[in-house]
Amino acid sequence: MKSTTRDPIPMKGLILSGGQGTRLRPITFTQAKQLVPVANKPVLFYGIEALQEAGIEDIGIVVGDTKDEIIEAAGDGRQWGVKLTYIEQEAPLGLAHAVLVAEDYLGQTPFVMYLGDNILKSGIKSLVQEFQDQKPNALILLTEVPNPQMFGVAELKDGQVIRLVEKPKQPRSNLALVGVYMFDHYIFEAAKTIKPSWRGELEITDAIQYLVDHGYRVQPHIVSGWWKDTGKIEDLLEANRLILESIEGKIEGVVDGESRLNGQVILEKGAKVVRSVVRGPAVIGQNTRIIDSYIGPFTSIQANCRLVRTEIEHSIILEGSEIADIGGRIDDSLIGRGVKVYRGEAKPQVYRFVLGEKSEVGLK
Ligand code: DAU
Repeated sequence: MKSTTRDPIPMKGLILSGGQGTRLRPITFTQAKQLVPVANKPVLFYGIEALQEAGIEDIGIVVGDTKDEIIEAAGDGRQWGVKLTYIEQEAPLGLAHAVLVAEDYLGQTPFVMYLGDNILKSGIKSLVQEFQDQKPNALILLTEVPNPQMFGVAELKDGQVIRLVEKPKQPRSNLALVGVYMFDHYIFEAAKTIKPSWRGELEITDAIQYLVDHGYRVQPHIVSGWWKDTGKIEDLLEANRLILESIEGKIEGVVDGESRLNGQVILEKGAKVVRSVVRGPAVIGQNTRIIDSYIGPFTSIQANCRLVRTEIEHSIILEGSEIADIGGRIDDSLIGRGVKVYRGEAKPQVYRFVLGEKSEVGLK
């Protein structure tokens, strides 16, 4: 049933930014997983930008324990020209629970639900358009993955969704639910009727299954560009690599005559590169110092870090960390805020660690 009017239906956005981030510990003991940076920008901001680009200016953000830092980071949305409204969820009781918590905010307006730890390369503009043109009750995005048991999985028959299962042990397809969904208000009826799953959560997957079972129109759209759920370290590093692949170099900091920058490198204001090689794509944050070091491709270093006689690539370093003289090359690593890694002078030559719960150290 195609729409005859060309006026787009107004839509709201709902970004889910509660939850716990257990798979990114220890980083997420002290920081919301949606604020972990990819190419020096919090993951959450990619979602806000995707909604803004799709013309959605009224965006609710569901927040939990990490509410304060999310509000501090994203503010009222003015920097993107959108209006952000924060909606508290008392506990991470599931994605469909988050929808119910937002019912008053959303009212009868159709909305895009965007999981705050997801990044979709090609944005969502054309998908929002598709929803507005075709007006299904729900539009779900699917993509083929090698490990469907880690996701919500959809089974299609003749192009129609027939079954959705959350993290199935024996997946019946390799089509994972991407963390972007579009709904009209019937999703509230669904979310109110379903029961918590075995993991105690009200699953959005079950709510969508309710829509399918009760004759509502659930339209699948298979996305072809890359998509990452950054909830795990490998995926976060992979998202960092994919975003850095498309950056354009910009030098606002200082590079001394004995240093060499190759490829696309962003050197933010006040950053300094001294007697070092930076091989892009890489981004180096404000006031960071790189001294006698090698920064290899796909590395993002946030502000106020200091790297001395260090080799590193394919890694993310958060704000205010210091690394010096450790010898080998650091690879595939995520280093938290204010971390210090260095070689001690004292004898006996021992390793000395002060590691928080769930830290991980890989020595050769
Ligand atoms: O990334 C795609 C997958 O996202 C889908 O394939 C799954 O069907 C879907 O259930 C979801 O699975 P995850 O296990 O990855 O969801 P996670 O618990 O990581 O939550 C996703 C986002 O929603 C994250 O930013 C935290 C937030 N959240 C989560 C829960 C459970 C909330 O705001 N409130 C909640 O109650």
